[in-house]
This record gives sequence, C-alpha cells and structure tokens, in this order.
Amino acid sequence: MKTFYVLNGPNLNRLGKREPGVYGNETLEVVEHRLAELANEKGVTAIFKQSNHEGDLIDWIHEAENADGIIMNPGAFTHYSYAIRDAIASVPVPVVEVHISNVHKRESFRHNSVISPVTEGQIVGFGTKGYELALLSFL
Ligand code: DQA
Repeated sequence: MKTFYVLNGPNLNRLGKREPGVYGNETLEVVEHRLAELANEKGVTAIFKQSNHEGDLIDWIHEAENADGIIMNPGAFTHYSYAIRDAIASVPVPVVEVHISNVHKRESFRHNSVISPVTEGQIVGFGTKGYELALLSFL
C-alpha cells in the first residue's frame, strides 16, 4: 500500500483560530480527517504530523525516505529554512508543497519559497482543499 506523509509546520496547529479571514475556519483535525477519508477511499495510507519546531520537520522528512510522497506545508519556514530544503534534497521522495493562502497576493516576504526548487510542485491559494489536490496529484 502506498504511504504518504502529510507534514504541517509552525502555527498550523492554530488553524480554525488563526487569522480565519486568511486561513479559513477549519481546524487541522478536520482537514486531516477529510484527507484520511480520501486516502482510505483511494486505498493509500496517510501519516499526519505537525510541529512548530524545524528539527521535528527535518526528522520526519528523513523518516519518510521510503514513503511514496510527502505533502508539506512548511508554514513560514517556507521562506527561509535552508535546513528543510536540504532535508528534502537528501531524500529520494517526491514532495508537493502546499499553501492554504495565496502567498503571492500577500506580503513580499511570502513570495519566495526556498523549498520550491527541490519539490515536484506547489499548490497555492486553494484553501485547505490544497492538501487533497496534493494527494490526488500523487495518484
Ligand atoms: C502558509 C503561508 C506562509 O507564508 C505562512 O507563514 C504560514 C501558512 C499557508 O499555508 O498559506 O504559516 O504556508
């Protein structure tokens, strides 16, 4: 059975409470539950992790080295974490980067991703549906 990691970075545990005008009203739990249902329907396994700490995210990227794909929203680390970028480059697993908001419509510091050059692609601005689009992109 194919296995996909779904990694969420800093402040994404605050979904539902955090800037709802930007990120919507759904909690991460609800988003993960919906994604788990989609994974189940498609006959694949999804492993969900969230951390506010860079090192945890790096460890999980390494842990996923034999998985079939990683769906990752690195939060603000997207814009400056060379360590996460290097972790992705160190594993043979394809990564799809997800951003709930349209980062290109927002502050200029959000326009650049240091992660994108080592990912398969980026899904931006489709709200929490972006995670499902990312999973479907692997199937
Ligand atoms: C985000 C966009 C980032 O700029 C921000 O720091 C986040 C969330 C998004 O999902 O739109 O934490 O990755």
